[in-house]
Amino acid sequence: MTTLVVGASGDTGMKLVEQLLIRKQNVKIIVRSAEKLPESWKNNERVHIIIASILDLSDLEMAKYVHGCDAVASCLGHNMNLKGIYGQPRRLVTDTARRLCSAIKTNTPEHPVKYVLMNTTGNRNRDLKEPISFAQKCVIGLIRLLLPPHVDNENAADYLRTEIGQDNQFIEWIAVRPDGLINEDEVTDYTIHSSPIRSAIFDAGKISRINVGHFMANLICDGDLWNKWKGQMPVIYNQSTQN
Ligand SMILES: NC(=O)c1ccc[n+]([C@@H]2O[C@H](COP(=O)([O-])OP(=O)(O)OC[C@H]3O[C@@H](n4cnc5c(N)ncnc54)[C@H](OP(=O)(O)O)[C@@H]3O)[C@@H](O)[C@H]2O)c1
Repeated sequence: MTTLVVGASGDTGMKLVEQLLIRKQNVKIIVRSAEKLPESWKNNERVHIIIASILDLSDLEMAKYVHGCDAVASCLGHNMNLKGIYGQPRRLVTDTARRLCSAIKTNTPEHPVKYVLMNTTGNRNRDLKEPISFAQKCVIGLIRLLLPPHVDNENAADYLRTEIGQDNQFIEWIAVRPDGLINEDEVTDYTIHSSPIRSAIFDAGKISRINVGHFMANLICDGDLWNKWKGQMPVIYNQSTQN
């Protein structure tokens, strides 16, 4: 199986690629620079490194790169500096999802391709009843106004939910919603829920990036797990910080 990972040079993207390699998967990555990548990837025949800025690719190039991929995973996120938050591309995550899905459709694959989006507990799954307090609504409203990357994350999940939908011939999707991201070296116990079990704003839990990568890799490699969560937005917390 081959998975295309975008955002593979990021802290979570790297963990996802490592987890896919542990599962003996072939991985294609599209990164702006190879500088941060582990040396071991550069000589690994299972890793195909493409150096490009994802949204600069032509439609033809996108279709070429997703061709033959069983899954596509996005761990993209805006860099947390002024340029990353307020500069272009404002719609990095959404436009990438839209263009990669369009490339998948162009290729008319025999089996649906899995699209796994790294999203956030700050976003709600509007297919479900996910009530939030008035105070949280106000804060999220402010975040929407002040932080364009949050709107981008919301729009990306909405694109999959409403435009790809539940019955697409060529694409199935899952939007994984991590709570507060932390760094850990080892996979630990974690729990998965259909909706947040705590406030993402006033009582955020924690989840390690390696656990997010582990879960995303399991979704891609385990058909039963995929079928359990496809078309949904599972929330992930470290077991140790859940209570
Ligand atoms: N922080 C939290 O607690 C939290 C919680 C839940 C969800 N999230 C979401 O998860 C995302 C990923 O988190 P992370 O910590 O793994 O992020 P990260 O380390 O900042 O990685 C971001 C990735 O996106 C790429 N990227 C950024 N701007 C780009 C552009 N203009 N064109 C192409 N690629 C671009 C980066 O590439 P370069 O290496 O080339 O810059 C990098 O590969 C966050 O951004 C956020 O939306 C965060």
